Amino acid sequence: MRGARVLTTAGDGFLLDGEPFRIIAGAMHYFRIHPDQWADRIEKARLMGLNSIDVYVPWNAHQPRPGEVVLDGILDLPRYLELIDRAGLHVVFRPGPYICAEWDGGGLPAWLSTSGVRLRSSDPAYLEAVDAWFDRLLPVVTPYLGSNGGPIIAVQVENEFGAYGPEDPDYLRHLADGLRRRGVTELLFTCDQAEGDMLRRGGLDGILRTVTFEHADGALEKLRRHQPTGPLMCAEFWDGWFDHWGGPHHTRDAADAAADLEKVLSAGASVSLYMFHGGTNFGTTNGADYKHVYLPTITSYDYDAPLSEAGDVTAKYRLMREVIARYAPVPDEPLPGPAARLDRAGIPLDEVAGLFSAAPGLGTAVASESPLTMEQLGEHNGFVLYETALPSAGPMVLAIESFADRAQIFVDGAPAGMLERGRTERALTIAAGRDGATLSVLVENTGRVNYGVHMNDPKGLLGPVLADGRTLTGWTQTALPLHDLTGLAFAPAGDRPPSGPAFRRGTVDIDEPADTFLSLPGWEQGMAWVNGFALGRYSARGPQRTLYVPGPVLRPGRNEIVVLELKAATNRTVDLVPTPDLG
Ligand code: GLA
Repeated sequence: MRGARVLTTAGDGFLLDGEPFRIIAGAMHYFRIHPDQWADRIEKARLMGLNSIDVYVPWNAHQPRPGEVVLDGILDLPRYLELIDRAGLHVVFRPGPYICAEWDGGGLPAWLSTSGVRLRSSDPAYLEAVDAWFDRLLPVVTPYLGSNGGPIIAVQVENEFGAYGPEDPDYLRHLADGLRRRGVTELLFTCDQAEGDMLRRGGLDGILRTVTFEHADGALEKLRRHQPTGPLMCAEFWDGWFDHWGGPHHTRDAADAAADLEKVLSAGASVSLYMFHGGTNFGTTNGADYKHVYLPTITSYDYDAPLSEAGDVTAKYRLMREVIARYAPVPDEPLPGPAARLDRAGIPLDEVAGLFSAAPGLGTAVASESPLTMEQLGEHNGFVLYETALPSAGPMVLAIESFADRAQIFVDGAPAGMLERGRTERALTIAAGRDGATLSVLVENTGRVNYGVHMNDPKGLLGPVLADGRTLTGWTQTALPLHDLTGLAFAPAGDRPPSGPAFRRGTVDIDEPADTFLSLPGWEQGMAWVNGFALGRYSARGPQRTLYVPGPVLRPGRNEIVVLELKAATNRTVDLVPTPDLG
């Protein structure tokens, strides 16, 4: 590490170690990128002319349970900061505690968000949890602060707080004071949208306000009205956008985005591209929106960003790089060409393990009178399998008053229907072939709301289940986080594979690992893993049709592909294809 790096403000600009400085940053989330690819992505940020990386911290990923802190693998924040430092770039650090980011629960841990505390407020119970987390996080980060010779030059307080609930300056003050108390002497800032009076409500006097937007027109002027002096900064310039399952694929025209970037830079403002490189919501890490209806975010976080999900330089990258070059030094070095890609059609997945029979090995069965939520079972992601006996034979109306997010219903193992939160369905007719038939309800947590006032988002069965108006009791439930599939007992699929959700497994031999995309034509809905690495969810609803497979999860020789199909597959093979299909 070098000597201290100190960012200050002077007049309408920044100074870095006393010299005029403009932040040209790009957001890139370590938790969405395979760690073996961090250095490559950072290098491509440098080549684009960015001088800083904008780093969010997902509290819920680092603290899956209170007291526990995870800082390895894809969550090795110190290593990420180290790599950025080594590349000669700075860090705009955004530790939340709330980050939004289309990330599960906006980064707030489910064990906290479902506990009844008033989230993102000065509720003492909430502040106590935040303080306990920052007491763990800040010592990890301290060596990387600019004042200690590290790359972090600025630290954000909260995230777009002005877009959330009631005003609560005490909360923001508590966070800012807490950062100072824990040794952060770096420049602090808040960020807010240019809508209404969000910039006022989300800011604190004495702390730099910055703005977030898609289009520059009017937004910087609005920031100026809220902050008569000091540097102008767009802390999130939305150069693309994200998608929901079943919705359209969003893109932003490269020339349009570049033109807006030019407006920002020609106004003398600092900027952070949101995103520079989006990455992937691996596993079950995606968030969801709740705009009158629940809308889970897809697995890809490509974001139509300048650097694609697979780390390719795009037309948008080149155009934006040209814009940056007019205002700041851009490395005069050749840009890397597209990386090699694997292409392998028709990989048979000819082994099977039924989810119901596998469940006892994937989680612990818990008995109760009424159904327990996923959080009451001590888990926060994945599925819960609920089982009880139906009182009588024959047709009946099954009503599930409250659940999240998708409930698949089975009677004696045979599929009997499905209810989905996003469609506000609550009841269906089922038929039992005998007295005491087993009712199974498989509930998937498809992602926690990450924006707005619906972030207390418990999962599983959340209320009574009724058969012809009578409450069903005597439940057994098993939480299935699916973090570890090594115990699955696969058998040859045969001609009649089990009905209902099942894992399928196949292998593919590879000489040289390289990036590729898993395509699942004829598959409906589920999750996929390669060599135990959870790629994420897939759905025939799209818009996304392929899943990114980072090269580093593959190895020379035999590789294992596992797919959990929840509904039905008309196909027994999958493909590895060289180009993504995001819809
Ligand atoms: C806001 C949030 C970000 C992200 C974007 C949309 O600006 O601050 O975390 O959610 O919206 O992608």
